[in-house]
Amino acid sequence: MRPGVYSLTLQNFRSYESFSIEPMGENVIFFGENGAGKTNLLEALSLFAPGRGLRRARLADMLHHKGHAPKWQLDISLFNGHGLINLSTTGHISPQKERRTCESFGKSEKTLNALAKYTALGWITPQMDRLFFEGASVRRRFIDQLGTALFTGYADMLSQYDNLVEEWSKVRSGPFEPQWLKAIEVQVATLGLNLTEKRLQLSYLLNDKIGQRASNFPKAQILLQGESEQLISTYPQAQAEEMYLKTLAGTLAALDETSTPPIGPHKTNVLFHHVDKNIPANLCSTGEQKSLLLAIVLAFAELMKEYGTGVPVLLLDEAVAHLDTTRRTHLFEEIKDINVQTWLTGTEMLSFKEAQTMARFFHVLPGKAEEVEVKRGFL
Ligand SMILES: Nc1ncnc2c1ncn2[C@@H]1O[C@H](COP(=O)(O)OP(=O)(O)OP(=O)(O)O)[C@@H](O)[C@H]1O
Ligand SMILES: [Mg+2]
Repeated sequence: MRPGVYSLTLQNFRSYESFSIEPMGENVIFFGENGAGKTNLLEALSLFAPGRGLRRARLADMLHHKGHAPKWQLDISLFNGHGLINLSTTGHISPQKERRTCESFGKSEKTLNALAKYTALGWITPQMDRLFFEGASVRRRFIDQLGTALFTGYADMLSQYDNLVEEWSKVRSGPFEPQWLKAIEVQVATLGLNLTEKRLQLSYLLNDKIGQRASNFPKAQILLQGESEQLISTYPQAQAEEMYLKTLAGTLAALDETSTPPIGPHKTNVLFHHVDKNIPANLCSTGEQKSLLLAIVLAFAELMKEYGTGVPVLLLDEAVAHLDTTRRTHLFEEIKDINVQTWLTGTEMLSFKEAQTMARFFHVLPGKAEEVEVKRGFL
């Protein structure tokens, strides 16, 4: 029995009034026509990571249109190699506010970050085809999603850092006690450097893993650029912190509450490179970019297995659409070798022909999914 999702239940979520599936840790393929509800199912799984899920949607948008209750609920049962972990997450929607809560083993958790103790989720969506052209914040978010899945406490560091940056801006914009500001700046600098270091560690691990893997996908290289990265790679810890503080304190420009510190991990630029071609990822073809993303996420799946504390699960929405038969076959073979539970979607069952021995097939129809005996389906 390998680790993975053993069962998933949806109530009042998107196009599903109530839905249940029991893949027992095996790979899952959802196929079905456009709008059938395949991505909705992967989105449900992605909400077992801290954050807003793979669509970053509003909680109200995820509430089933015909649902009468003001909430949706998702339940999951995960096998971690030793026993079953039961998690649930609920979206509470009222005209005044929306909030998402989570429970483990039937007990409320304080924050959604607690989910990262149990799960390690990585995903690719068609929207991520634009990743290499998007603004820096989208690329940072991609890296941070990986960090959240890989390192214990990473999600907490991110939340704390965001809160501190907000506090810094607020204090800095009004009349302030120098002592008070100084105290916040010390915290910003310490956490800013710690977060930068964790991100750098993640990029080294990923680059090493991509370099070592015998893969048919092109080798990608991830580079993090920024002032805080520069400080860490140039100076010893104490000196780096001192210089970080100097830059923070030296902000002369007029500040309002929306101004952010002039240095720190919120300013990092994340660059991707196609190693074999020696060109930046944004100059690659659409198919090459998809392959680069797959190379990153497959290497990441191996890292999740080696370093992650949560149950590793990979979600690949429409990942085979642009791939030719050879590349598709390679993808399925690599998923099999990595041995991390993977959920794939696509419109045509035939696109998954070469995966027939390594996954369970489900035909997604509005509001439900029917398991298909693959041998019969491919006759
Ligand atoms: N809150 C909601 N309540 C009810 N239905 C919803 C809700 N949100 C989205 N839907 C419906 O879910 C369907 C889209 O589901 P989904 O994106 O999962 O489809 P898909 O199978 O992935 O399609 P494609 O192949 O085009 O990607 C649409 O028909 C949409 O109207
Ligand atoms: Mg879809």
